[in-house]
Amino acid sequence: MSSPKVAAFRKTTFNSAHKLYRKDWSDEKNKEVFGLCANEHYHGHNYRLDVKVVGEIDPETGYVIDLKLLNDLIENEVKERFDHKNLNLDCPEFKDLNPTGENIVVVIHNLLRAKLSTKYELQVRLWETERNYFEYPV
Ligand code: NI
Repeated sequence: MSSPKVAAFRKTTFNSAHKLYRKDWSDEKNKEVFGLCANEHYHGHNYRLDVKVVGEIDPETGYVIDLKLLNDLIENEVKERFDHKNLNLDCPEFKDLNPTGENIVVVIHNLLRAKLSTKYELQVRLWETERNYFEYPV
């Protein structure tokens, strides 16, 4: 008989700068499509990240996942990589990928997914502002 499946969540925050633009577009076209987000000298966001891990309760520990280990994973894979960084300039992940909320949430999901046991389902939600957030996978 299998154990009940439960979702465990861990939240974190990180601060990063970015701008939205395509190198292969003119300044005018970037401004037209991305507006203020294309401002040449970058701008910052206080990102919030909600990581959701779904799995069966381990009958031995009563845990789905040790949240200390999940937190270490998020610290190592996300915070160290992106906190207090310029996503466009400092982070190879976004060298040729526009650092929109959509792209950031997919990048973060894939970084965590690569290090997390396949016995877990993983879903990531990234808050760019109080009102704008992105989720992957859907
Ligand atoms: Ni922005």
